[in-house]
Amino acid sequence: MASKHIAIIGAGRMGSALISGWLQSRSKPEISIIEPSPSEMVKAQADDYGLAINPAPKATDIVVVAVKPQAFEGAAVDIAKWIGPETLVLSIMAGIRIKTLRKLLGTERIVRAMPNTPGAIGWGVSVICAPEGLLKKNISDAARLLKPLGRVEGPIAEAHMPAVTGVSGSGPAYLFLLVEALAGAAEAEGLSADFSATLARDTIVGAAQLLYETGEDAGRLRKNVTSKGGTTEAALDILLRGDGMPSLIREAVRAAASRERALSSGK
Ligand SMILES: NC(=O)c1ccc[n+]([C@@H]2O[C@H](COP(=O)([O-])OP(=O)(O)OC[C@H]3O[C@@H](n4cnc5c(N)ncnc54)[C@H](OP(=O)(O)O)[C@@H]3O)[C@@H](O)[C@H]2O)c1
Repeated sequence: MASKHIAIIGAGRMGSALISGWLQSRSKPEISIIEPSPSEMVKAQADDYGLAINPAPKATDIVVVAVKPQAFEGAAVDIAKWIGPETLVLSIMAGIRIKTLRKLLGTERIVRAMPNTPGAIGWGVSVICAPEGLLKKNISDAARLLKPLGRVEGPIAEAHMPAVTGVSGSGPAYLFLLVEALAGAAEAEGLSADFSATLARDTIVGAAQLLYETGEDAGRLRKNVTSKGGTTEAALDILLRGDGMPSLIREAVRAAASRERALSSGK
């Protein structure tokens, strides 16, 4: 990516996570940031790395669209000013389909991706999809662009993107909620607020690391810490009562996927 010029449209939570990922990678692309209200962090990154904020548009190698889906239609005319015949467009917007991108941006060279926020530290997973017939080179360029953020999966069928959004796109928030809930439960059992927050966070981070480093199946790791008649079993009896937690997670992922589909149809 060293020789590529990337214009990133929208440097909010996800856009700035992408920028941080690129800046931490060895091959630093030339980056133009298009953002009406850049954060202090983005401004500092621009100063430190010589990135342009809101320069005049010109056809560029890659345009990454990271505005909210609801803002896309209004922004499309300005985004199109960055697109030439050779430009590859990478959209990370949830719920904006390839056919809509094609129509509003006037190009066929489009890759859609669903990254997630751990990408800011290189631990993300991004799933991509592309229109039939797109050059393999365009797909591998998009994958390479997402690589500093972590693993890249796909291309997959676009019809599966709502499910991906519900699992990996929104998934980090489910884990953060679990940390908050565990900390709250620790406090309710009489631990101090600070200690509860640290204990809950370190437990989730440690468990995730164990899952990653051992490569063991999550169900097996769970069974390993669940002895018959023990404390974990007592807790899991509550979480699995009436299929409680798995059914709640299924419902949550389905709601996220439905929301993605609703955004796709302009609701
Ligand atoms: N957050 C996630 O975990 C996640 C995961 C995967 C994908 N996504 C997708 O990533 C996209 C961005 O999400 P986000 O959470 O980063 O949203 P966000 O924090 O609101 O960032 C969007 C940024 O775009 C700016 N913007 C609005 N209109 C613009 C325009 N015309 N030109 C340039 N910039 C403009 C916004 O500025 P103002 O605030 O001033 O309007 C804001 O700073 C969304 O489409 C979302 O579906 C998010």
